[in-house]
Amino acid sequence: MSGSSPDSAGNSVDPDIQAHAPRAERPAGPARTAAQAPPAVYEPLLTLQAASVSFGTTRALQDVNLRLLRGERLALVGANGSGKTTLLRLLHGLQAADRVTDRRHGAAQNAATPSAAQPAAERPRTEHLLQPENRPPISAMVFQRPFLLHLSVRWNVLLGLWLQGVPAAQRDARCQQALQRVGLGTLAHRPARALSGGQQQRLALARAWALQPDILFLDEPTASLDPSAKQEVESLVREFADDGVTVVMSTHNLGQAKRLATRVAYLAGGRLVADRPVDEFFDSPDLPVEARQFLKGELPWLT
Ligand SMILES: Nc1ncnc2c1ncn2[C@@H]1O[C@H](COP(=O)(O)OP(=O)(O)OP(=O)(O)O)[C@@H](O)[C@H]1O
Ligand SMILES: [Mg+2]
Repeated sequence: MSGSSPDSAGNSVDPDIQAHAPRAERPAGPARTAAQAPPAVYEPLLTLQAASVSFGTTRALQDVNLRLLRGERLALVGANGSGKTTLLRLLHGLQAADRVTDRRHGAAQNAATPSAAQPAAERPRTEHLLQPENRPPISAMVFQRPFLLHLSVRWNVLLGLWLQGVPAAQRDARCQQALQRVGLGTLAHRPARALSGGQQQRLALARAWALQPDILFLDEPTASLDPSAKQEVESLVREFADDGVTVVMSTHNLGQAKRLATRVAYLAGGRLVADRPVDEFFDSPDLPVEARQFLKGELPWLT
């Protein structure tokens, strides 16, 4: 963690809880504007303590500690297979952890390994810091290849709002606003899968933004885009961050990490081995050796 971070109150995140946060409690009305956005106050939003994730004998994540502060833009970097996507999925609630240390109210306890037989209520869990409105943070995720339904652009956004529990009377306005925000207002009735790669990624961002998330998770959001589409998506991410959305993104593009992130975390073999403010990460003489090799493009292939 960054040395400049304040001490956490011990709040931590349970992906199971997070995935089922009471969306309908979100205040009604149009999406936030910069003027209405919460101030980018650096306070802990999520805390992950000693989280591990295994797939059979593969340890995708090992004892990861991460504290995410409100208003941060965290870039996850690391070689292929280092655990970036798994960490994003864990934080977003799509992936369960093997073991999480629960530090609710500051009392640390080691939780047992969850099993499918265990009811959700008994599984190890950690919790979020509640939002000022006394609700868990809302998160949205944009994947490397956007998952779009065989429907119009508009319906892809509307269905996301319906799933979120947004009242019917608000869905149209929020959908339109989100599509206009990403420059797809005039393509609302086009089949989503007929859009170009860059437009599809913008649609995925609109769908996420329409949910008015507190945290936006992005998995290599510009990996397959040409330079101009890449720039468009980067500007949108920056705009969302300016609106007060906390951003966690994985990227192989170090320039992008420099341009967008306030903090960079480096993963190697499922471990979070460096976590620094962005300037320190790129200029620090005392980075762990793997991270230095990665920055120089000299990491050996691992099998
Ligand atoms: N569903 C899965 N089943 C089995 N193994 C998996 C699964 N998902 C990830 N893994 C393994 O977990 C490890 C971490 O994978 P992950 O996708 O998180 O890495 P990554 O850093 O996102 O890689 P990349 O840069 O290639 O996207 C890898 O060894 C991968 O093979
Ligand atoms: Mg990945």
